[in-house]
Amino acid sequence: MVQKYLVNFDSRELPQQEAEYLIIGGGIAGLFTAWAAAKAGASVTLLTKRTVAESNTDRAQGGIAAALGQHDSPELHMQDTLVAGAGLCDEDAVRILVNEGPERVKELIDMGASFDRTGNDLCFTREGCHSQDRILHAQGDATGAEILRTLSQNVAALASVEILENQYVVDLLVTDNTCYGVLAVDQISGQFRIFRGRVVVLATGGSGRLFNYTTNPEVATADGIALAYRAGAEVMDMEFIQFHPTSLVLPGAPRFLISEAVRGEGALLRNARGERFMPQYHGMAELAPRDIVSRAILSEMAKTGAEAVFLDLTHLDPDKIKERFPTITLTCAKYGLDITKDFIPVAPAAHYMMGGVKTDLWGETSIQRLFACGETSCTAVHGANRLASNSLLDGLVWGGRIVQRAAMVLENRLHHKPEFYCDQLRPTPDIDFRELKKKLQQIMGEKVGPLRTAQRLAEALAFFDRWSYLQSHEVRETSQMEVRNMLEVGGLVAETAMMRTESRGGHFRLDYPETAERWRKHIILKR
Ligand code: SIN
Repeated sequence: MVQKYLVNFDSRELPQQEAEYLIIGGGIAGLFTAWAAAKAGASVTLLTKRTVAESNTDRAQGGIAAALGQHDSPELHMQDTLVAGAGLCDEDAVRILVNEGPERVKELIDMGASFDRTGNDLCFTREGCHSQDRILHAQGDATGAEILRTLSQNVAALASVEILENQYVVDLLVTDNTCYGVLAVDQISGQFRIFRGRVVVLATGGSGRLFNYTTNPEVATADGIALAYRAGAEVMDMEFIQFHPTSLVLPGAPRFLISEAVRGEGALLRNARGERFMPQYHGMAELAPRDIVSRAILSEMAKTGAEAVFLDLTHLDPDKIKERFPTITLTCAKYGLDITKDFIPVAPAAHYMMGGVKTDLWGETSIQRLFACGETSCTAVHGANRLASNSLLDGLVWGGRIVQRAAMVLENRLHHKPEFYCDQLRPTPDIDFRELKKKLQQIMGEKVGPLRTAQRLAEALAFFDRWSYLQSHEVRETSQMEVRNMLEVGGLVAETAMMRTESRGGHFRLDYPETAERWRKHIILKR
């Protein structure tokens, strides 16, 4: 039984503060929600566990997809999203994404986001599974950083938004299926505090750090899903993890993302023997859906016994490459690679979680007054495999929708302020949480990675079972809390991956390689 809290506490003994909106997370989803809420006249407190600069948004290279091009349309964008999603997209959610997305992107442009242009015209590029050039980018391959700059500057200028950094949210405060706020700890002073919100929004981002190889920053430890699950919210589609096909593989280098846009501009994938292989795997070759490219790469690595395959840009115009991908050029140069002359060694790495806290089409979870948006949420808009560059768009669209719905929630005043406490947890056991985290990441990578079997998943589940006794102990350090969250969410991914006896999108079972019509459904879990 998953316990409700990570620490013993009594809210009556802690400092308390209150805002209309309490937003957890400072990536695109959290910041856009804060901006929209403040524009609607609400007071907002936004908590981030580190700084606003540290998020997956900041690392987003390829761009943001929106049907704004002359030959494009929301219908075409919808079709591509559904194809990538492998039969599990919620069609209403996709329709909302592709129709409202262009307006939200125009709002970003009005706020000052400077996307790349030729003359006055926006430039569009293509990535995997898109039938059109529809991906906007900024400073070549620094799209997320530009969006983050724009949003944080705009939000910082609003007097009704308070941004508090280094605030680690320990648990949600939920009673009678209604969320009243959070328990958080200031990572600098160590002070625990109660933040009350009439609307609480989870926008805590990704889960990539569950795996040993990931493109995600250190902060992406699945906190939002763990918080919501412990509090009794429904979570959905947890088995669907997207492994990005091309992360840099060099000794001493992090698994830095080499954007799919590089293939969109003509780069080819070659195996260790120098042979191009993607045309044998899919008609769209290097631009096939991500799950197909990732598995093709793993198959070529196994065939040749190599640790990586290679991205070949050597046939492309060197000046254009340097101008189009300045961040990738510079980062690779730091590790001694000239991407205009050398092949780039790459392999798949965990990149995006399609599942998350289940919400309706307005971002509302199964707990009243608790909303979720961005990667931590799951509307099933991405189905079993997210279409490239749809994630930034998702954060904007559902950030905006939450504010529309929450206006109704705010009309209903809360008549009481319940207090919360927990005194049942035993002292923190004397274990090495850093080692435990490493072991968890290794198990997830090896047993719950892109190629799964019942045997591998059973081994992973045995690992999670072994550590489940920790749920009756408290943890006081935030690094320990992260590991606890990772244990909870890693266990959910392994459990649902075991349940789904088929292969679909980001979930591939070597022992059930076919897609089964009877599995065209979602797995929903609740504590
Ligand atoms: C990329 O630039 O390849 C990543 C874009 C995305 O994940 O949508």
